[in-house]
Amino acid sequence: MKICIVGAGFVGLATGVMFGKLGHEIVCADIDESRVNAVNSGKSPFFEPPLEKELSRLVKRSRLSATTDVVRAASEGETIFLCVQTPSLPSGRIDLHPLKSASKTVGRAIKRCKDYKVVVVKSTVVPSTTDAIVLPILEKSSGKKAGNGFGLAMNPEFLQEGSALKDSMQPSRIVIGALDKRSGDILAKLYAPLKAEKVRTDMRTAEMIKYASNAFLATKISYANEIANMCVRFGIDSESVLAAAGMDPRIGRLFLRPGLGFGGSCLPKDVKALRDKARSEGFSSRLLSTILAINEAQPSEAVSMLESAIGALRGKRIAVLGLAFKGGVDDIRETRALPLIETLRSKGAAVVAYDPMAARSFARAMPDLEFASSAAKCLKGVDGAIVQADWEEFRRLGRTEFSSMRTPVIVDGRRCLDPDRIRKAGARYLGIGYGAAR
Ligand code: UDX
Repeated sequence: MKICIVGAGFVGLATGVMFGKLGHEIVCADIDESRVNAVNSGKSPFFEPPLEKELSRLVKRSRLSATTDVVRAASEGETIFLCVQTPSLPSGRIDLHPLKSASKTVGRAIKRCKDYKVVVVKSTVVPSTTDAIVLPILEKSSGKKAGNGFGLAMNPEFLQEGSALKDSMQPSRIVIGALDKRSGDILAKLYAPLKAEKVRTDMRTAEMIKYASNAFLATKISYANEIANMCVRFGIDSESVLAAAGMDPRIGRLFLRPGLGFGGSCLPKDVKALRDKARSEGFSSRLLSTILAINEAQPSEAVSMLESAIGALRGKRIAVLGLAFKGGVDDIRETRALPLIETLRSKGAAVVAYDPMAARSFARAMPDLEFASSAAKCLKGVDGAIVQADWEEFRRLGRTEFSSMRTPVIVDGRRCLDPDRIRKAGARYLGIGYGAAR
């Protein structure tokens, strides 16, 4: 089948490459020309090596291509996936402009064509967006009736950056929210080669499943951070506590790693959007507000730990290792590095930072920040360091690097380092939620 993907971001490209690997012909449409050029030369516009490898293979075999001509791409596609961004507005509400504009363009393509197409919303949208906003736009610009002239479905995506292709090929579940049986059956057939259980629902339920999932993940992280912050004050290592608590299958071990809080393109945005949507329906979610408040306060916990070890920060030079929202990616959206560095600076510290992949984009967000070209150089002469993202290379730091620090104190903001190794290498180790800090 010929599949059109509108929006060549993480979700769009991972979906396109996944269906390409399943034998379909993929045409990606994006209004960003540089993105389209990157895809057509087999390059991923973001750092995701396994995805790029498969993308390049498919492009070479002419199984996947990209274009800025959205109408042409949508006219060619039998199924059209809408994978455009839904960024946060200052209120927390999602900005639907890109989705509305893509829907209008796709509707124009449907108008031109005689074949029956199914439009699938994969962008993360709050409940009722697909039926109350996308559907009427498609009907108006196509001049056809949904469920008759074209099909419509909502199919949320649960992939994580850093494992985008693997998560798309081996999803935990496939949620198919469809307007009618025909649309749902077409989508179910497309996904049939994947082993995961298919959950068939209506479109609003599918939209809510995505928010319920991300809100729960955010809840687990804020819960872990709250427990960790208590453990520090009780003189207990939260790692042992959370590991043992997580052995109860009702709790589960994953997503209980304390740290500087959750960042990235989804969790903060989705929690805020769900809270905003609930508010607009007259429901004030105290849980979601608390999850966000705990998240906001988390960088200050690491800064307080550092202060407890080296004293007031005024005039001190502090290294921040890792600027991406997590290790292994080059994405800085909602990274906790930003509030962390702002807090350090507000206390009078000079900050030097390093990230293996995200430094260039971070420099655009904070142009006056001093950057080091390696972790070793970043640590040279500093009064302390905070690890903000769990990059593998930080685990290899040792005596040579620590001995170049003026005060060898490491605050492990992601609990990703080996405390014994650091101590043996002559540095003081302080981990978020680690009782030994006191
Ligand atoms: C997330 C969801 O996991 C994914 O299902 C959804 O489709 C998109 O949003 P992603 O944004 O790639 O994926 O990031 P994720 O790996 O979930 O991490 C989000 C943030 O939480 C990161 O800042 C990470 O460092 C933090 N985190 C994660 C913790 O602090 N502790 C944990 O135990 C797990």
